[in-house]
Amino acid sequence: MEKFYWGCSTSSAQIEGAFDEDGKGRTIWDAFCDTKGFIKDGTNNRIADDSYHKYKEDIKLLKELGCNSYRFSISWARIIPDGCGKINERGLQYYSNVIDECLKNGIEPFVTLYHWDMPLNLYNNGSFFNPEFLNWFSNYCEVVVSRFCDRVKHWFVINEPTCIIGGLGGMVPFKIYPTLDMLKAAHVLNLCSAKGFEIIHKHGGIAGCAYCGPLFVPAHDDNKIEYKEACRRTLILKRDDLNIFSVFISPAVEGKYPDQLFKEYTNEELCFMKKEDFLLMKENKADFIGLNVYMASTLTYENGEFIVDKNVDSYRTSMDWPVYNKCLYWAVKIIQDSYKKPIFISENGIAVDDKDDCMRSKYITEHIDYLMKAKQEGVNVVGYFYWSLLDNFEWFQGLRPKFGIVRSDRSVKDSYYTYKNIIEKYNKII
Ligand code: GCO
Repeated sequence: MEKFYWGCSTSSAQIEGAFDEDGKGRTIWDAFCDTKGFIKDGTNNRIADDSYHKYKEDIKLLKELGCNSYRFSISWARIIPDGCGKINERGLQYYSNVIDECLKNGIEPFVTLYHWDMPLNLYNNGSFFNPEFLNWFSNYCEVVVSRFCDRVKHWFVINEPTCIIGGLGGMVPFKIYPTLDMLKAAHVLNLCSAKGFEIIHKHGGIAGCAYCGPLFVPAHDDNKIEYKEACRRTLILKRDDLNIFSVFISPAVEGKYPDQLFKEYTNEELCFMKKEDFLLMKENKADFIGLNVYMASTLTYENGEFIVDKNVDSYRTSMDWPVYNKCLYWAVKIIQDSYKKPIFISENGIAVDDKDDCMRSKYITEHIDYLMKAKQEGVNVVGYFYWSLLDNFEWFQGLRPKFGIVRSDRSVKDSYYTYKNIIEKYNKII
């Protein structure tokens, strides 16, 4: 029987707290939290879930849940406080302890190297637009991967590059950038991914990234026209809209940009892409695809036209995201059809208040049932990570949205048991 990975996802800036402990440098999220008006509910992530001190409790909760894996991220500024230069041993020691604790409890650590908490010093020095950025990033990866490769097999180099260029992980928040600047940043992120893959492979690991984007799905199971159009709209590359999957997945998986890129932009506009960049991407590809999927837009084909969102489920999350319980089913089909790589659902979840926790149970049950249906139908999906183990710091939304199956005080919700039962049930079947 082939192993299926059941886990939960978290990220350093969202759960750790301890924002200035043990030599950690300041990150952009420390700075954003200190900027008046940036965080919607006026909260901050200085303490968050205090996982920096409570990681053992978290890992125990994962074990009792029946998980065999845990996806968490490493804070660059704990390892290299200024992003470049001096290494902070205490930061490395912290993650070494987390990894050991996982292994001691039979949980495989899945490590994300960059989940948006850029060291502030790098941001203040031009971030992705500084020609040194790729070197800074490669150096950070080398330090971390060489240190932990004896115990960590699976690595996510970058989490959601689309959201990063959208302002969550190194661009100036709320600023509207010209398209070409966004593309330049996207290109740097693609080079960083390729470098990350190279370093991980050199150390014997398995590498990928976690992607997101607007997902279109057919409203009817057997409607081939809807399916074809859903694939097209999900993967299409458009000039002024880089909030898409393909501009990042294609370089990672195929080692090259989609041909469409060279139709949308002139050679002159793309002159910042160098020959050696294409070579780096070609020679260093991902082993798997991570998908972060929370929702989808349905396409209904009627009278020769496509109608968006005619058939969605009736409930919405507390963040007003629409729910469509087949979104994972279609996401993995569409991405597998185009890219033919093993797929992890690296995030999937719902924000609801405690009084609506039963909605989370319903969400998890239906989404996983459909994901397993896709697996039974032959899609090579190899793991599922619920977002998130804990209620945590939801970026510009602050601490208000509740994604956790566990509260910040570590009391568990009913949905924790729902997920536990699902894992037990499928472990008997797959
Ligand atoms: C993302 C991030 C997470 C979010 C989650 C809910 O996928 O956007 O990886 O950090 O908290 O997705 O919005």
